Amino acid sequence: APAFTVAIDGPAAAGKGTIARAVARHFGFAHLDTGLLYRAVGALTLDGADPVTAARALDPRALEDARLRTANVAQAASRVAVIPEVRAALLEFQRGFARRPGGAVLDGRDICTVISPGAEAQFFVTASPDVRADRRWRELRDKGDTRTLGEVLDDVIARDARDSQRDAAPMRPAEGSMVLDTSEMSIDAAVAAAIAHVEARG
Ligand code: C5P
Repeated sequence: APAFTVAIDGPAAAGKGTIARAVARHFGFAHLDTGLLYRAVGALTLDGADPVTAARALDPRALEDARLRTANVAQAASRVAVIPEVRAALLEFQRGFARRPGGAVLDGRDICTVISPGAEAQFFVTASPDVRADRRWRELRDKGDTRTLGEVLDDVIARDARDSQRDAAPMRPAEGSMVLDTSEMSIDAAVAAAIAHVEARG
C-alpha cells in the first residue's frame, strides 16, 4: 500500500490524541504520538541527562513508559522542545514514520508545519484553555491526582505559551490544515469530521 500521511497538530488536551487513534484505527494506519519523543527526552533530563545527548541516543521503541504521562514530564518535555538540536535529532525518525507504506497518523505540535508539510490530510485540533484544563483535570482526578483545576489551568497556559512562542518550530495552524475546535464538540463528532476530511483527501 502507498504512503498516506495524516498530520495532526494542536495544544495539550484538545483531543488530538483521541482523534489520531480513532483515525488510525478506522483506516488501519500506524499511529505515532510524537509528544512521547519529547516526553522521553524530558524524563531523561529530570534524571540529570543532557537533552541533546539524550535526544540523539533515544530509542523510540522505549516509548511506552507510563511515567511519561505525568505533569512534571510534560513540563520537562516542553522545556527540551525549545532546543533546535533536540528537534533536529528527532526529525528523521518522525519523517520515516510518516512515509511508511500503508499509511501513518502523527500527532504533535509541528507535524503539518515541519515534519510532514506534504501530508495528504492536515488538522489543527484546538479548544479553549478552560475546556482543555477541565478535561485534563478530570482525567488526572480519575487517576487519583489531587491537583486543583486552577493548577492544571496554569500548567496548560504555561505550556501553550512555551510551545507557541518558541523560535524552533512554534505551534501554529498550518496553512491548508482543517481547524477542528472541539470546545463545544463531542469527541464522536470531532472524530467523524476528521474521518470525513481524510476520506475526501484520499
Ligand atoms: O503532546 P504532548 O503533551 O505529549 O507533548 C509534550 C510536549 O512536547 C509539548 O508541550 C511540546 O512542547 C513538545 N512537542 C513538540 N512537538 C511535537 C510534539 C510535542 O514540541 N511534535
